[in-house]
Amino acid sequence: MKRAVYPGSFDPMTYGHLDIINRAAEIFDVLIVSVLNNNQKTPLFSVEERVKILKEATKHLPNVQVDSFSGLLTNYAAVNDLHVAVRGLRAITDFEYELQLAQTNRMLSGGKLDTVFLTTSLEYAYLSSSSVKEIASFGGDISKAVPDFVGEMMFEKYRIGQLDRQTR
Ligand code: PNS
Repeated sequence: MKRAVYPGSFDPMTYGHLDIINRAAEIFDVLIVSVLNNNQKTPLFSVEERVKILKEATKHLPNVQVDSFSGLLTNYAAVNDLHVAVRGLRAITDFEYELQLAQTNRMLSGGKLDTVFLTTSLEYAYLSSSSVKEIASFGGDISKAVPDFVGEMMFEKYRIGQLDRQTR
C-alpha cells in the first residue's frame, strides 16, 4: 500500500488544494490530508472547522482521510509510518521555501520522509488561502477559488451579508 501525507494549513482549503488532493489520490493508495495545528498563528478557521471543510470537500474520494497534527511533520510521519509528503508547487516563488522544507524534513527524519511535488493546474496557479481571505473580507467574488459552502463560511466569519457581496 502506497500511503502519503498532504500536510498544510488549509486556512481554508481552496480549489488549488483540492486539485492536488484529487490528483495525489490517483497516485497513492491512501492519502492523508493533515491540517497543521499551529498555536503561533491566528487562523480564520479552527483546526476542527478546517478538518470538517476538507472532509466535506473530499467525501467523493474513498482513499482520502483527513487528520490534524501539532509539532513537527517528521514526528507525525514517524508515528503514523508515513514516508512520503505531497506538496503543491504553484510557481517558481514557491520553490525556494518548498525545497528548504523538503530538505529539512529529509534531514530531520534521517532520510525517512521524502517529498513529492505536484505542479498546480494552471487555472489555480494564482490562488492562495491568504488572497482568498483578503478578497472575502471585502465581500469580493471568491466563487472560482473555494467551493460555495466554504465561501458561505468565510463571509459569515467576516460578517459580510448577502447585500455586501460582489457575486457574479
Ligand atoms: O499550507 P502551508 O502553511 O504552506 O503548510 C506548511 C506546513 C504545515 C507543511 C509546514 O509548515 C509544516 O510541516 N509545519 C510543521 C512544523 C515542521 O515540521 N516544520 C518543518 C521544519 S521547518
